[in-house]
Amino acid sequence: MEQYGYFDDAAREYVITRPDTPSPWINYLGCEAFFTLMSNTGGGYSFYKDARMLRITRYRYNNVPTDAGGQYFYINDGGSVWTPGWMPVRAKLDAYECRHGLGYTRIMGEKDGLKACQVSMVPFGSDALVTKLTLENKSGAAKDVSLFSFVEFCLWNAQDDSTNFQRNFSTGEVEIEGSAIYHKTEYRERRNHYAVYAVNAPVQGFDTDRDSFLGAYRGFDSPAAVFEDRSRNSVASGWAPIGSHNLKFTLAPGESRSFIFLLGYCENPQDQKFVAPNVINKAPAKKLLDAFKTEAQFDAAFKALAEYWDGLLSIYHVSSGDEKLDRMVNVWNQYQCMVTFNMSRSASYFESGIGRGMGFRDSSQDLLGFMHLIPSRARERLIDIAATQFQDGSAYHQYQPLTKRGNFEVGSGFNDDPLWLIFGVAAYVKETGDISILSENVPFDNDETVAESMMEHLRRSYHYTIDHKGPHGLPLIGRADWNDCLNLNCFSSTPGESFQTTANFESGVAESLFIAGMFVGVSDDYARLCREFGWQEEADAVPAHKQAMEQAVLRHGWDGEWYLRAYDAYGHKVGSNECEEGKIYIEPQGFLVMAGVGVKEGYAQKALDSVRKHLLSEHGVAIHTPPYTRYHLELGEISSYPPGYKENGGIFCHNNPWIVLAEAVLGHGDRAFDIYRRTCPSYITDQKLHHTEPYVYSQMVAGPYAPRFGQAKNSWLTGTAAWTFYAASQGILGIKPEFDGLKIDPCLPAFLTDLKLTRKFRGSTYSIHMLNRAGGEKGRVRVTVDGREIGGGLIPADKAPAAHEVTVTLE
Ligand code: BGC
Ligand code: NOJ
Repeated sequence: MEQYGYFDDAAREYVITRPDTPSPWINYLGCEAFFTLMSNTGGGYSFYKDARMLRITRYRYNNVPTDAGGQYFYINDGGSVWTPGWMPVRAKLDAYECRHGLGYTRIMGEKDGLKACQVSMVPFGSDALVTKLTLENKSGAAKDVSLFSFVEFCLWNAQDDSTNFQRNFSTGEVEIEGSAIYHKTEYRERRNHYAVYAVNAPVQGFDTDRDSFLGAYRGFDSPAAVFEDRSRNSVASGWAPIGSHNLKFTLAPGESRSFIFLLGYCENPQDQKFVAPNVINKAPAKKLLDAFKTEAQFDAAFKALAEYWDGLLSIYHVSSGDEKLDRMVNVWNQYQCMVTFNMSRSASYFESGIGRGMGFRDSSQDLLGFMHLIPSRARERLIDIAATQFQDGSAYHQYQPLTKRGNFEVGSGFNDDPLWLIFGVAAYVKETGDISILSENVPFDNDETVAESMMEHLRRSYHYTIDHKGPHGLPLIGRADWNDCLNLNCFSSTPGESFQTTANFESGVAESLFIAGMFVGVSDDYARLCREFGWQEEADAVPAHKQAMEQAVLRHGWDGEWYLRAYDAYGHKVGSNECEEGKIYIEPQGFLVMAGVGVKEGYAQKALDSVRKHLLSEHGVAIHTPPYTRYHLELGEISSYPPGYKENGGIFCHNNPWIVLAEAVLGHGDRAFDIYRRTCPSYITDQKLHHTEPYVYSQMVAGPYAPRFGQAKNSWLTGTAAWTFYAASQGILGIKPEFDGLKIDPCLPAFLTDLKLTRKFRGSTYSIHMLNRAGGEKGRVRVTVDGREIGGGLIPADKAPAAHEVTVTLE
């Protein structure tokens, strides 16, 4: 089987050994405000905070060849032109390697005895992409090297940049000073920010106008300036501004030279924008450039970045005896959780950065995998999310990261949204014990005049479901629940109409078993939060609401072998054995069993057996089966996809961990792990078939009915990251933050017999040694802390930070 790379566990890197991966395999640089997506060939783009509003460099999705645009370094070695990342010139390299690490990417290319190595990172605390490029002459003769850098600026607003050419072909402006190129389009009017692209050495020449650099009708693969070895010293005026430096130097045999390139984002106060008419104030840029003038400065920042990650990854660590599990839990899954926390569903190689911003449900769920890393940031995020809720408890489905305002075009009406906020806040309080978040004053729809406590937001969330029930006493689905494509009130027959926002028919009838599962699942936590807040009466009312919902599910939601998915606008069953297509869905089986519904009635066990029987495949559990083969007006987008893709019968990885967690509820260690393994990137054998990055989760793997069964799409930005980390760390390995302490409650596969874990929790450190003799079931779990056995596996939270030795036996 063709392989494209491997894990280097010691370095915490994924090593790509050939550039022509099935699709670009990318990395995310930056973890605060400045971000760069960088592919294994140097493609990608940068933005500040918001990929739509403040896009720094341009990128072309859907282009041929793919992955067009990036930070490129062209080398002209005595007439032979190449690029170390292979793209865009695609000259044959003698050696190539790309290492994606935590917040940095290293690309090495070698040709004719000249080796080029670029290391790019967004340093912690700096709004810049900084790249150290080292060229080494490995040949026996001196080399005259001519090096050209290249970035293409985006005119800030990525949507306008890619559509409104009648205007934006005339707005581009730059300034050049020494080795620094300043991109200042629209700075003359309402923007007080600009970008800078500079190198820490004198330049031979430069270009800032794309056509001058490339030459008419030429592409990134054959820039005339590079092939003719002569920068044009062009000054952009309208059209397409770029940044390109030319450096010429001689390398003796064995000699190497490094340069530092910096692409930065700078802002000025309104009254300090200019130093002379139309001459920008470059002070912030100079400060940035001064911070990365030398290799020593670069190396120090690189080390600081590694230490930052050392700190984060020391919070949860496992040595299980299975290296594939360890590398996901310890490194890559947590890393992806950071990325989904930062990006929500905004910018990836599948999300254009223009469409969706931060999702209400998406970001709430992303927090489940991020909470332990930086709880203070999770807290801020929860407040931002809650501020996009409406007074009636419903919520904007998405908001824009820069403005934090709800996205008006998409609006509201996804009836699962409100409940996710309770999941997020409960997870925060369990991790930190910080109940002050409940008293935090948070506006509705960003209107400060109607602010209420966070707890009041949660109350409105909870009651939104209670107040919106349908004929069977089950929650009304609205536009959709978690499954965005099950649009039961949409009835769209107009091409191009948005399935997400169209409600041609508000039935007031269509109901969701999934939301029922969420409601039951979150009820106990909600009641506990009420009590913490001093709302005894509200807390006391919860069990009755919970029970009513459970009863409605048991009475109207059981199909005989599994749980139904929904009732449609006519009151017909969805996800029933009676249906011709879409007979069984994964979501209610996962969520209802996780919530404990039907456990004692035996329904839970049956439901999970049915999942295995009907939905399980080599590559994971399909979302439903059989997929819809024709368009169903009454079901919406779900039936718009060809069978086996996306929500129509694909393996929608996000919900596989729900089955893992559900299996753990029933104590099935082997079965839980079996589901975990099937979608887990580190267990992928056929990298070519899988297509996307084998170090992160993708949203979807084509299901058994698809022509390309096993092929993944939509890598990186998926709730799969958070949920699988949650399922592995809490469901399988069983380290669960609870309101009162840390609960130890593993459910292990038989083959994991002896494990060591470290968990930092509320200031204390727990060193945990687990011995598993339970043979693939959960068995009886016994826990000792510092030599003393504790009942129930709950280690009470410390009043003062301490270190504890914990032993766990499963028999
Ligand atoms: C996709 C969903 C997505 C939705 C939101 C649909 O086309 O299939 O996965 O959540 O769009 O924009
Ligand atoms: C992707 C969306 O981001 C998420 O919100 C949704 O739950 C899933 N698709 C399933 O439709």
